[in-house]
Amino acid sequence: MLAPGYRVLVTASSRGLGKATARRFLEEGAAAVTISSRDREGLNATARELSRVGGGSVHAVPADLTVREQVEGLVDRAHGLMGGLDSIVYVTGPPRAGRFAELGPDDWDYASRLLVLSAVWITYRAIDRLRRPGGSIVYMASTSIAEANLDLALSTVLRSSLSGLLRVVSHEAGALGLRANMVLPGLARTDRMEALVRRTSEARGVSPGEAERALTSGIPLGRAADPSEVASVAVFLASDAARYVNGATVAVDGGSMLRIL
Ligand SMILES: NC(=O)c1ccc[n+]([C@@H]2O[C@H](COP(=O)([O-])OP(=O)(O)OC[C@H]3O[C@@H](n4cnc5c(N)ncnc54)[C@H](OP(=O)(O)O)[C@@H]3O)[C@@H](O)[C@H]2O)c1
Repeated sequence: MLAPGYRVLVTASSRGLGKATARRFLEEGAAAVTISSRDREGLNATARELSRVGGGSVHAVPADLTVREQVEGLVDRAHGLMGGLDSIVYVTGPPRAGRFAELGPDDWDYASRLLVLSAVWITYRAIDRLRRPGGSIVYMASTSIAEANLDLALSTVLRSSLSGLLRVVSHEAGALGLRANMVLPGLARTDRMEALVRRTSEARGVSPGEAERALTSGIPLGRAADPSEVASVAVFLASDAARYVNGATVAVDGGSMLRIL
C-alpha cells in the first residue's frame, strides 16, 4: 500500500511494462499517476482505460524520450499536474533488436539517446523535482545488463552504462534523501516479446510456438513473466516499504540468469 497522496510518473507507459506499472500503482492506491509515450492517441486511450483502476487520477503527457527538451518538459509537467512527485519509474521503448553486424551507426545514435541519455536527462530533472526526503527513481532496464544477449547488441552494450549511473546516482542522491534502484526484466509478455518471437521464428525457420519455446527454455519457472509481475517489483522499490533499499538491482527473470557475481 502506498502512502496517502502518492504521485508517480511512469515513462514509456502506453503499453507493455510501463502501462502495467502505472496500473499497479493505481491498484496500490496512488493518488495520481502520469503516463507518457510518443503516440498521443494510444496514450490517451490507455489513460482512459487506467482511469477506471483504483481511485487515483491519471494524466497523459506525450513525450519522446530521445528528445532532451521533451524529457525535461515531461518531468516538469508531471510535477505541475500532480502538485509534486514522489517517484519516477523510468521505462524506455525497446531498442531495435539485432546482432552487431545487423545494426548501423544510426541505430547506435538513436539507441544512445533512447537508453542512455534519456536516463541522464530524466535523472537531473528527478533530482530537482522529487520530494525530499523520500523520493525515488526506479530504472527499468533488462537482464542484458548482466548477461550479454548477442541478439540484442544495442541493449547489451548501451544499457550496461545504467549500472554505472545507478551507482553514481544512488550515492549522490542518497545524500539528498532520494533513492535510486533498478529492475531487470527477463522476458515478459508484451508487444516487445511478440516481436522477439517473430524475429526468432523467421531467423530459425521455425513456427512462432517453437520460437517461443526456445526463448523460454532457459527460464527455470518455465514461462515468460506477466507484465504485472515485473510491475509489482518496480512499485515495491518505489514505495516507502523499500525506504532503506538504495542502489539495488533486482532481476525479475524467473531465475534465468546464470551469473555468479
Ligand atoms: N518485454 C520484455 O520481455 C522485456 C524484457 C527486458 C527488457 N525489456 C525492456 O523494457 C522496456 C519496455 O518494454 P515493453 O516490453 O513494455 O515494450 P512495448 O510493449 O513494445 O512498449 C513500449 C512502450 O514504449 C513506448 N515508446 C517507444 N519508443 C518511445 C520513445 N522514443 N519515447 C517514449 N516512449 C516510447 C511505446 O509507446 P509509443 O510507441 O506511443 O511511444 C510503448 O508505450 C523496453 O526498453 C524493453 O527493451 C522488455
